[in-house]
Amino acid sequence: MDRKLNENGVIILDFGSQYTQLIARRIREQNVYSEILPPETKIAEILVKKPAALILSGGPSSVSENDAPEFDPLIFNIDIPILGICYGLQLLVHNSGGTITSSGDGEYGFAKIDIKNKKGLLSNIKSQSEVWMSHGDKVKKIPKGWQVLSTSSNGVIAAISNEDQSRVATQFHPEVSHTKEGKTILSNFLFKVAKCSKSWTAGNFINEQINLIKNKIGQKKVLVGVSGGVDSTVVAALLHKAIGENSIAVLIDHGLLRKDEAIDCVNALQSGLGVNIKSFDESKSFLSKLTSITDPEKKRKIIGNEFIFSFERIAKTLGEIEFLAQGTLYPDIVESGFSKGKKAQVIKSHHNVGGLPEKMDFKLFEPLKELFKDEVRKVGLELGLPESLIQRHPFPGPGLGVRIIGEITKDRIEILQEADKIYMDILIEDNLYNEIWQAFAVLIPVKTVGVMGDQRTYENLLALRAVTSTDGMTADWFRMPADTLSKISNQIVNNVKGINRVVYDITSKPPGTIEWE
Ligand code: XMP
Repeated sequence: MDRKLNENGVIILDFGSQYTQLIARRIREQNVYSEILPPETKIAEILVKKPAALILSGGPSSVSENDAPEFDPLIFNIDIPILGICYGLQLLVHNSGGTITSSGDGEYGFAKIDIKNKKGLLSNIKSQSEVWMSHGDKVKKIPKGWQVLSTSSNGVIAAISNEDQSRVATQFHPEVSHTKEGKTILSNFLFKVAKCSKSWTAGNFINEQINLIKNKIGQKKVLVGVSGGVDSTVVAALLHKAIGENSIAVLIDHGLLRKDEAIDCVNALQSGLGVNIKSFDESKSFLSKLTSITDPEKKRKIIGNEFIFSFERIAKTLGEIEFLAQGTLYPDIVESGFSKGKKAQVIKSHHNVGGLPEKMDFKLFEPLKELFKDEVRKVGLELGLPESLIQRHPFPGPGLGVRIIGEITKDRIEILQEADKIYMDILIEDNLYNEIWQAFAVLIPVKTVGVMGDQRTYENLLALRAVTSTDGMTADWFRMPADTLSKISNQIVNNVKGINRVVYDITSKPPGTIEWE
């Protein structure tokens, strides 16, 4: 097929894979726009968008199952290239006259593949490559006129296409980083097969969002919940750019912020960017609701609900407000079990999604919900936010509430704030802060014996956590230099009354999570 360059990007039909957003992200990384739609989207709705290509995602179903997701069968007639990934491959085969079988063992994890045809989809791929597989079903017979591009060392068909490669498919997941040459394979599909143009950038994202905000919100007023973190600051800056004074940034100080964070945040947004921001000290009501609560999920729900109640109360004093904007990111949504496909298991109720009460007076607006952290940072830089703010480590909505294990009291908050401040200052001083995805201290409800001067002490235990990560979904513990650890430990034990022992957390994610609660 002789195709013209197309800047409308790629539509991904989501058949329920846990990797669908990752496909979208990998495409954006190559500066191509992508949009995820439900699997049953009608062909007419797809064609209106004039996409360069269609991708059928993976998914947990079997093509012949009765409860397999519905789709419009006309998608297979569409005159643009289609890439099927895993379940998407099986759908393409099943609907083009081939056969899929469920018998035999599946392949899960790494697999070696041999490349049989190095044109188009698999150009520039080594003759033997390593990929990530996750399937039970497999191809038994390919459709007539199609060809096998690659097989796995287990004898499973790993990639196929029709004659002119307007239909291509992989049994493995090119979007997953374990697939060694996955980036090249996706790039081959985008640029060699589908002739996508490289037109998606952080700047385009901003323009697109500004238009969307103007259309959706117009002259109405929006409250932006600002927490001091990168995500909500970017949302506030974006809304300020789109609708100026009609966007009101509100910082609810729940009393669980880092030391001086509320003041620093207001200063950065107000004097730095001219954002209309107001700060409210709501700590008393939050802390009274949290009295004697120790269960992590209960804490999160209470803080989440209290947040919305505070907003609603404050909003009434600010005039007619219709929308509430939040800096929810894609990983927050996945981990709370709200992904677009089938429900992922709930790991933690992240407060800005899981903790919302069922009835709310606001319409929610979450402009960053399809993005990953590093993408949000690029958008922030493009919006002109200062580097120091952009590089800030993520800070969870429930704040120190999930870093004080056990009961949350005013005293314990102060102890943690002091210790955490020393920790952060030293990381900056030792030029380590920007090497770390996230670092923080955790106060543990355990007392241990120590000796200071000639005095016996019996005080709290503090844990230091520092992890490296690219999106917070997986993480490794940071190999902190011993001298830095020693400096942090000394300064904390010597200066923070209430702590006499410091330990360093060496757990990766999985099996641990980043936060302790
Ligand atoms: P976990 O602890 O689940 O954290 O490995 C992954 C990332 O998410 C942040 N996190 C939250 N962010 N509200 C948020 O806005 C929350 O309730 C919340 N819980 C965890 C965490 O700090 C890490 O960056």
